Amino acid sequence: MSDANPVDLLFGGMEKLGPGSDEDTLKVLAMLPGEAWEVVVDAGCGAGRQTLALARQLHKPVHAVDSYAPFLAFLDERAREAGIGHLVRTHCMDMAEIPGVFREIDLLWSEGAAYNIGFPHALATWRPALRSGGFAVVSELSWLREEAPAEARRFFEAGYPGMRSVDRNRAVAEEAGYRVLATHTLPRRTWVEGYYDVLEPRARALRDHADSAVRDFASETLEEIRIFNGSEDSYGYVFFVMQRA
Ligand SMILES: C[S@@+](CC[C@H](N)C(=O)[O-])C[C@H]1O[C@@H](n2cnc3c(N)ncnc32)[C@H](O)[C@@H]1O
Repeated sequence: MSDANPVDLLFGGMEKLGPGSDEDTLKVLAMLPGEAWEVVVDAGCGAGRQTLALARQLHKPVHAVDSYAPFLAFLDERAREAGIGHLVRTHCMDMAEIPGVFREIDLLWSEGAAYNIGFPHALATWRPALRSGGFAVVSELSWLREEAPAEARRFFEAGYPGMRSVDRNRAVAEEAGYRVLATHTLPRRTWVEGYYDVLEPRARALRDHADSAVRDFASETLEEIRIFNGSEDSYGYVFFVMQRA
């Protein structure tokens, strides 16, 4: 790891790379019909908190896809330590390439990652890789109500201009060829515990780093946390539980 790689400095060794919890992952998994899942893919798995939760619960191999090799190496290590190394198969690749590598997917899971290639594009891209009637569970940052603090609106207009409401994302999923079976919004505490409460002190410590890219990344992270603290629950991470129509 490079000492000045902002991603490694800020996120290195973190088990969660986004909001979420095993409790919520398993709650959403339980919304699906009990099926014999054979091909399960976790797109944008990061350090694989949810990969490990899925593999443990399903007792099936989970293909963990991410484009950043150090996160996958950390996931491999954690899976081995947890005694489920045989259930986690890591693939260092672009999540947009999933249909070229996997066929007849029973369950495509993606927490806090689809936005990297655009939520509508991700859904359209992954659909042909799903088996007929297969399932996709994808979380997406969404506006939860019409009124949002002006600061939050401005922050996302600059940083994530395509951010949509839950209803709009539901329509996007339907337009992409899915039936939306259920949604689930992550509770506020899952943003804080093990995520912002780890990131905030790290970012504070990096604000005076010699490398300006690190300083900028640290400041952006602190601004994101400040906006979240004043967000009045106007936005959140929403799971869309979908079936290929
Ligand atoms: C915010 S993190 C979420 C990670 C994990 N799902 C979690 O909730 O802890 C997003 C992940 O997507 C990965 N990523 C970004 N663009 C990608 C791409 N085009 N293909 C595969 N992975 C990608 C990043 O490396 C990162 O691990």
